[in-house]
Amino acid sequence: MAEPEAGVDACQRLMEETVRIFRETYPACEPTIAVAAPGRVNMIGEHTDYNQGFVLPMALPLVTVVVGCKSTDGVISLLTTAKEADEPKRLEFPAPSEANPLSPGLPRWANYVKGVIQHYRASPLPGFKAVMASNVPLGGGLSSSASLEVAMYTFLQQICPDDGDLVEKALTCQKAEHTFASMPCGIMDQFISVMGRKDHALLIDCRSLEVTPVPLIDPNLVVLITNSNVRHTLTGSEYPTRRQQCMEAAKALGKESLRDVCMADLEAAKTCLEAEVYCRARHVISEIKRTTEAADALKARNYWEFGKLMVQSHNSLRDDYEVSCRELDELVAAAMDGEGVYGSRMTGGGFGGCTVTLVDAAAVEKTIQRIKDRYSGTATFYITKPSNGARVLKL
Ligand code: GLA
Repeated sequence: MAEPEAGVDACQRLMEETVRIFRETYPACEPTIAVAAPGRVNMIGEHTDYNQGFVLPMALPLVTVVVGCKSTDGVISLLTTAKEADEPKRLEFPAPSEANPLSPGLPRWANYVKGVIQHYRASPLPGFKAVMASNVPLGGGLSSSASLEVAMYTFLQQICPDDGDLVEKALTCQKAEHTFASMPCGIMDQFISVMGRKDHALLIDCRSLEVTPVPLIDPNLVVLITNSNVRHTLTGSEYPTRRQQCMEAAKALGKESLRDVCMADLEAAKTCLEAEVYCRARHVISEIKRTTEAADALKARNYWEFGKLMVQSHNSLRDDYEVSCRELDELVAAAMDGEGVYGSRMTGGGFGGCTVTLVDAAAVEKTIQRIKDRYSGTATFYITKPSNGARVLKL
């Protein structure tokens, strides 16, 4: 069975549980602030954000919650409830100042939080106590880290308000990930976690950062996420290498980014590019086109067309971009081999994590069963709906 739809109730329950842990951890204090920021699933437009292309993600009902209060001692006290987080799960440090900035280190989980605190856009930050909890699977490719960053930023906005600029908020969280987690990610994850809109996927132009909401509310349609529950620990250099190869291709073609390159330009320059670089660029250029076409198909409720583009995206990520893996390919093949399934693809950075499948509501249980029967590992399923971005919760 799929997990029960994680929605408003799950967020409320998570908040209540976090409040309980806060009171247990800091018996002398009462929490005054609670915020939530969602994870995301990307419907299509993979590895296009750092090429100034288009992406089409939606925010999930799965969230990271931060509960806490201001303190007067200038000390920041943090606790994570994540089982997978490295030790220690609780730590304290002085609120940063110009003379005493924060820097990344151990435990690793705290780097996302420290990065956001260090780059926060208003000052002076007072001390505070906070407990963080999440129902976004950690490292599952559903942007658990972006949801943590955006949740922390939203928390800081309550204790030391900034100017409220949402684009700058997303960019600051991205900067935290670059500088404190050494992950040169694009803008998609933080952006959708900030801007997510209930009942809509967002077509984001990662060059202008302009957003077009696309309704995704058909009661006959289900967005099914399947977690492969594998994460291949590669050297960690795959993502930066892909990014580098894209820049190399754009430069060889005399353009600022692959957004400005069309397939004909690429074909004309094929002999000047290394074979691998050519393939990487072919994925990005074709994926940018597929993403705008998919947004149009979704607007027209043409789910078969949308699904076809999803499968093409998966194949391109597998063959040209080489970021899929056996498990993700198995999940997509199993999903597609039955009735009522429009499309399926790996989602997120790749090398494990999740697939996303667009399926007719009447076919969803059969689809889940088929995936379970055929998958060589143990999968986890989420039936999800597009949800709102970061928000303040009522305590
Ligand atoms: C990761 C990054 C995103 C994006 C995806 C691939 O999730 O954080 O910026 O590049 O990979 O589409």
